Amino acid sequence: MTGPDDSGAIAARDPDGRENADNPPIRRLEDWDAEALLALADEYDTPLYAIDLDRVRENCERLRAAFPDAEVRYAAKAHTGRAVLETVRDAGMAAECAAAGEVKRALDAGFSGDGIQYTAVNPPARDLDYVVERWGEHPDLTVTAGATDTIDRLRERGFDGRLCVRVNPGVGAGHHEKVRTGANAKFGVPYDRAAAVVDAARADFDVVGIHAHAGSGISGDDLANHRELVRRMGDLAREVGGLEFVDVGGGFGVPYREDEPPLDLDAVADATRDALGDADATLAVEPGRYVVADAGVLLARVNTVKEFPDTTVVGVDAGMTTLLRPAMYDAYHAIRNVTDPNGPAIPVTVAGPICESADVLCEDRPLSRPSRGDVLAVGNAGAYGYEMSSTYNSRPRPAEVALSGGRAGLARRRERLADLTELETDAPPN
Ligand code: LLP
Repeated sequence: MTGPDDSGAIAARDPDGRENADNPPIRRLEDWDAEALLALADEYDTPLYAIDLDRVRENCERLRAAFPDAEVRYAAKAHTGRAVLETVRDAGMAAECAAAGEVKRALDAGFSGDGIQYTAVNPPARDLDYVVERWGEHPDLTVTAGATDTIDRLRERGFDGRLCVRVNPGVGAGHHEKVRTGANAKFGVPYDRAAAVVDAARADFDVVGIHAHAGSGISGDDLANHRELVRRMGDLAREVGGLEFVDVGGGFGVPYREDEPPLDLDAVADATRDALGDADATLAVEPGRYVVADAGVLLARVNTVKEFPDTTVVGVDAGMTTLLRPAMYDAYHAIRNVTDPNGPAIPVTVAGPICESADVLCEDRPLSRPSRGDVLAVGNAGAYGYEMSSTYNSRPRPAEVALSGGRAGLARRRERLADLTELETDAPPN
């Protein structure tokens, strides 16, 4: 990977993100070449996710430059495609995995044991069995436990390796109530009992770290909460002593709205280090969204245009099963008509093919007047896009194409109708 040059030019501080043309802090939807996106839609059909590995690399570079002394662990849940995982691994980052399946994907993508952090949240027995088995071959992997039950269950399985204790710091942050974890009792051991849990675990495990995660999509005023979380974790690290790392989670936000400024990552990194204080342990961070969000777009084709007195409903072939975020979090994603980017704008509701009223990608949004057959591009779709897709309404998942160095290749084939019934058996009595 190419690092920052001597002038530190990679670390753009310009709020518009235009100062460093080589690696701006955000790639907006309008920065994608409309002709190239149209060509992808024609070649690979729609709905189609495109993920630009060059942009993933750039995002990794900015993170590494902002946190030169920290361990940066990619939260794989944002996008687990193998091409992405390999790109992140080649950029020198570790992987934070939320489930056995993510651990498997990380190992398959070539992460070594010491580059894998498994964060168990109420882990099903099958997950613990799998991870402990793989730990036999990769003794350097680290398991993060957020409940004493999880610690007991690891002990019962003979695990005595690298353990990290997840703490509930009592302070959360994030773009939506549903993604704020730091003060949610589901996550981590209570802060005031954390030191005792660490001490007790030291008898049977190699306790290497403590962990907390405020939430996802942190920006603006929420940054103060994130700093408070880091401060509490620094205090705890000093209290328990002897740790290798203090992991303060991920959550760095990206601007989804066209007029939203990007995060000043360097300022966030400085504030994080300050808040941690002089804890004798390495800082670890776990960004997911920041690595992949603006590296991805979703392409959808218009199949229906319906005029109503107060709006125009534009029906497309992608919906909540393709990109769940608008339906689940009322999330805003920029949308552009790449067939006719500069036509006169009209307010539209872009709706998918699912039989639910929640199945809209935007409402009352000014868009260059779409016609049947036009291709719409949805921005910032690289994080939690394909990853949260489903086959509800028996709708096959889309294809995904990966871009790198001006070339394109199919990363995940489009699911077929036949795939939908693949898991059915003849066993049910009827
Ligand atoms: N570390 C832990 C322990 C996490 O639970 C998460 C996200 C991350 C790191 C990475 O957070 P990020 O940097 O990506 O914000 N589906 C939601 C996001 C849920 C995130 C869950 N945990 C969305 O689409 O906004």
